[in-house]
Amino acid sequence: MKKLQIKVFTALFAVMALFLASCSGTQKGTFEVGKGTFLLNGKPFVVKAAEVHYPRIPQPYWEQRILSCKALGMNTLCLYVFWNLHEQQEGQFDFTGNNDLAAFCRLAQKHGMYVIVRPGPYVCAEWEMGGLPWWLLKKEDVQLRSQDPYYMERVKIFMNEVGKQLADLQITRGGNIIMVQVENEFGSYGIDKPYVSAIRDIVKEAGFTDVPLFQCDWSSNFTNNALDDLLWTVNFGTGANIDEQFKKLKELRPETPLMCSEFWSGWFDHWGRKHETRDAATMVSGIKDMLDRNISFSLYMTHGGTTFGWWGGANNPSYSAMCSSYDYDAPISEAGWTTPKYFQLRDLLQRYLPAGEKLPEPPVPFPVIEIHAITDWSVAPLFENLPEAKETEDIKPMEYFDQGWGTILYSTVLKENISGVLHIDEVHDWAQVFADGKLLGRLDRRKGEFELKLPSTLKKGTRLDILVEAMGRVNFDKSIHDRKGITNKVEVISGKKSTELKGWNVYNLPPFYEFVSAKDYKKGEPVDGPAYYRATFNLEKTGDTFFNMNTWGKGMVWVNGHALGRFWEIGPQQTLYMPGCWLKEGENEIIVLDLKGPSETSIPGLKEPILDMLRENAPETHRENGQNLNLSGETVVHKGTFTQSNGWQNVKFANTVNGRYFCLNAISNYDGNNIASIAELDVLDKNGKPVSREKWKIVYADSEETRSGNRTADKVYDLQESTFWQTVDNTSFPHQIVIDLGDTYEVSGFRMLPRAEKEVPGVIKDYTVYVKGTNFKY
Ligand code: GLA
Ligand code: CA
Repeated sequence: MKKLQIKVFTALFAVMALFLASCSGTQKGTFEVGKGTFLLNGKPFVVKAAEVHYPRIPQPYWEQRILSCKALGMNTLCLYVFWNLHEQQEGQFDFTGNNDLAAFCRLAQKHGMYVIVRPGPYVCAEWEMGGLPWWLLKKEDVQLRSQDPYYMERVKIFMNEVGKQLADLQITRGGNIIMVQVENEFGSYGIDKPYVSAIRDIVKEAGFTDVPLFQCDWSSNFTNNALDDLLWTVNFGTGANIDEQFKKLKELRPETPLMCSEFWSGWFDHWGRKHETRDAATMVSGIKDMLDRNISFSLYMTHGGTTFGWWGGANNPSYSAMCSSYDYDAPISEAGWTTPKYFQLRDLLQRYLPAGEKLPEPPVPFPVIEIHAITDWSVAPLFENLPEAKETEDIKPMEYFDQGWGTILYSTVLKENISGVLHIDEVHDWAQVFADGKLLGRLDRRKGEFELKLPSTLKKGTRLDILVEAMGRVNFDKSIHDRKGITNKVEVISGKKSTELKGWNVYNLPPFYEFVSAKDYKKGEPVDGPAYYRATFNLEKTGDTFFNMNTWGKGMVWVNGHALGRFWEIGPQQTLYMPGCWLKEGENEIIVLDLKGPSETSIPGLKEPILDMLRENAPETHRENGQNLNLSGETVVHKGTFTQSNGWQNVKFANTVNGRYFCLNAISNYDGNNIASIAELDVLDKNGKPVSREKWKIVYADSEETRSGNRTADKVYDLQESTFWQTVDNTSFPHQIVIDLGDTYEVSGFRMLPRAEKEVPGVIKDYTVYVKGTNFKY
């Protein structure tokens, strides 16, 4: 009897120990690349990952978001590591609080979720400078994302810090990390296998030795930098033809497990451009196609959240900064709400569970509150609250003055009378020019505005102030070398004469709470011009809310010390997400920096966000009413037929042609309907190399679909293969697009990437091309 008791106890004890080990997550496991499948602890496994970004979610909300992903049917979380967030000052690392990514991973493990880590060093992600720290730009000739010794030295130091945080959380050591990414879509940046190999080695040296390392790219370019010893994955968006996307990869590696490492659920928003959405049914059908083929995926974004503070990035060309909301039209909204898209996807994922298994219910959302309009402000005019000046003879960008983000003021007293045109080379990114405190004009880099006609002669002794606000640093392509403020010089051009202005006082106005709260706030009326505003508001209970900024001009908001993000009257984003966990019962403080000035100083907290109210007058489409391109009498440079396929199509002219205006005239398509579409277009110079698209402008497009999505003609050169120009379905062929290349080139041909969609709608068949030195007739 006693023996039996002992046996029962030992057995019970063993079961308990096993249970405890699995609860505390200390059980060691394996994750491997098998034949045609991933293997989790030796068994086939399909990765269903939810991309979420820890800094885009307030830390107290992490768990709720993780549970929402789990209830959606995901088994893994996929996250970037944002270098510039962790090392804001060179050599000073912060992995605490909202930056504690190891805590994020452990929280995921607590809920039975695996983690894929993408530590960069470059991450893109519509994040300031693609995650690279601004202070790298202090080195004048730094070559980012290359084997520049200084850059590589800093990458190594950073990656080792990431290793200290995360290496022990690999599944083999009892954690939940199953894969680690090397670099990010390097194929869209360049061809440099030695660099990508060096990053791989640094990732390994940082301790990521136990789980598969992978590199992700687009199907059109993944072979450019593909390393033999890494797993290759492909990124693409909703609507893509899944078989086409993996075709080449399957040919090259017939036995590799397939994974779409970024399946874009929606898309991000730019200031001054239409709010982006993507159809839910199309997204769900893409995921179904992958599940049916045993393809692993990560849904980018499953929950986008918010790019708080000054962390939003930008695209280029043409320069275009990202909104603070990173809602992304994702299944889980910016504030963590489930959406119809969420439930459509959940229904699908539920169907793919083993018989009898059920998904858990989504967690309860956080309460939402309304806040009475905040109207009682103290004001601190910016010009009356300047910090100490730094003196410099020549203009320099903000990095030179050891400033990373925010606003910078360049001020000089004129040594002689000036008149003509003020030329600023270049404004990064939004400038206001004042003479003795009076506003002369504003310059917007997005519109290529670098010149200001002086209204009259400015007298010797006049104080000239140029206040420049830095928006996000470019996060994609070579222009990530994006210095802020005024990058080169300021000249006055009068007739043929140009005079550089020298001898400046420079004022650094960083976006830190410590800086903006320490102003001399006085009760009073709003000022016409840049100023800080401060108010308090009382709450009986806290909850999430959306601050409506739509009577304010342009700037940033801080609440209880948290930088919420940027606002800009042009939209489409009008509200700022205010997480309730950063509010208090009782008194709260709000600070607003408005560089332009409000029309009304009132901020109500709403129960719903406003993310789609565009108030910019810029035309969305590229054709004026009644305007018709007239090609009669123009010389056809080339006549051809595209093939009906995915991937770039190269066209070489019989002879090179000199010109600046490029017109593609689409005559027919393969579908027999009215639609023409193009994802990307390059014009080739005399050596067959793509010419710079930096100065490109769409002069004309006969038709652009803007009702069902954002399919304007400028999408042919936004460097994104998943965005495209598409004509509306009720205007018939021919369709034309005319591009001003910005400079004259000897054009030898062009290349065209068709839209990579499932039904391949709108692949152009027959076409003619025209190239001219001057614009066409309309
Ligand atoms: C690419 C990048 C991501 C992100 C998406 C667009 O795939 O890898 O970081 O920028 O595009 O949202
Ligand atoms: Ca595009």
